[in-house]
Amino acid sequence: MAELKYISGFGNECASEDPRCPGALPEGQNNPQVCPYNLYAEQLSGSAFTCPRSSNKRSWLYRILPSVSHKPFESIDQGHVTHNWDEVDPDPNQLRWKPFEIPKASQKKVDFVSGLHTLCGAGDIRSNNGLAVHIFLCNTSMGNRCFYSSDGDFLIVPQKGKLLIYTEFGKMLVQPNEICVIQRGMRFRIDVFEETRGYILEVYGVHFELPDLGPIGANGLANPRDFLIPVAWYEDQQVPGGYTVINKYQGKLFAAKQDVSPFNVVAWHGNYTPYKYNLENFMVINSVAFDHADPSIFTVLTAKSVRPGVAIADFVIFPPRWGVADKTFRPPYYHRNCMSEFMGLIKGHYEAKQGGFLPGGGSLHSPMTPHGPDADCFEKASKAKLAPERIADGTMAFMFESSLSMAVTKWGLKTSNCLDENYYKCWEPLKSHFTPNSRHPAGTN
Ligand SMILES: [Fe+2]
Repeated sequence: MAELKYISGFGNECASEDPRCPGALPEGQNNPQVCPYNLYAEQLSGSAFTCPRSSNKRSWLYRILPSVSHKPFESIDQGHVTHNWDEVDPDPNQLRWKPFEIPKASQKKVDFVSGLHTLCGAGDIRSNNGLAVHIFLCNTSMGNRCFYSSDGDFLIVPQKGKLLIYTEFGKMLVQPNEICVIQRGMRFRIDVFEETRGYILEVYGVHFELPDLGPIGANGLANPRDFLIPVAWYEDQQVPGGYTVINKYQGKLFAAKQDVSPFNVVAWHGNYTPYKYNLENFMVINSVAFDHADPSIFTVLTAKSVRPGVAIADFVIFPPRWGVADKTFRPPYYHRNCMSEFMGLIKGHYEAKQGGFLPGGGSLHSPMTPHGPDADCFEKASKAKLAPERIADGTMAFMFESSLSMAVTKWGLKTSNCLDENYYKCWEPLKSHFTPNSRHPAGTN
């Protein structure tokens, strides 16, 4: 595979032409009477026309045929995609899943779309307010099928196997420990090279932004220049009825046939694009004196709600870093949160749970549901010598944190058969160390 090229910079106004057609972008206007190379001009709007300039998002695509050249959409098998948050009764317990099983290609060929499984979610697609967490489990490339969500942005976190993603804007290679965002309406197909697994955070009606940095200053966390945007690439292929466009619309799947490859955009410009980001580039900020900082310091991207400081969803990571806090219990604190916390593990061992929370699995701690380090972690960290130490080398855990109270689907609780019924037992050995007659813990003064 020839090395792919990218444009750098989060949310930039970009312009790109496939080098086979220099000058494909019209000069000085968006809608010439006849476009260069006799292409069609098509605008993709990611925000209301009237959004303030700072949040206005659109791109202009110059393509061989416009997207409207298709047969009618028809309903198709939903598989395990759902937006029905009442499939099963609510469950406030701490939930943990073993690694979700990837189907074997020798038994059943499953591509990215047929391998989508909705795990949990909340809110309402039709009012553009909410989110869903999907797990993808696949072993086959999409071929002449492409997909888009009319409902929201997909933040894709590959965990096993790399993804070669063809989009209308060009191609991206996304490997585990990288993420990508494919925004609402953008068509894509994914080639896979092995049994492949990952997580998806879908947010309805909002787009991901870089978090404000406040007193941190102008630099830090995920730096804008590390976000990479594909460059224009097209294929000029026509096969009668040969291409299928799958549309996730109001939570259901529909398919339409068309004769032309949907990846027929010769040039584009705009600020509404897919992009990818390598999590290794995250500049970690942390406590260098004492106490455990809140995990919001690890926010990579946020999808804001209309309430100041409250996210529909934050994407948060726990990267390799130094732990240096003095006189401090260094692992995550015991916690009850008004937010929902879904966690996944890309690789390695998460510091607060050395066993049981495995790459490709997950956990959900719902609003006000207590959680925290397991008994073993508490014992060790309470006695540890507080020298500077590396934390999470070889590990990448992440969290989708939401202000919405998420429901778990029937697939999540039952059909997946991955729910760990013994999760609660990791806290059972916690015992009282209370010494009512002595303020000073043993060994201290
Ligand atoms: Fe928490």
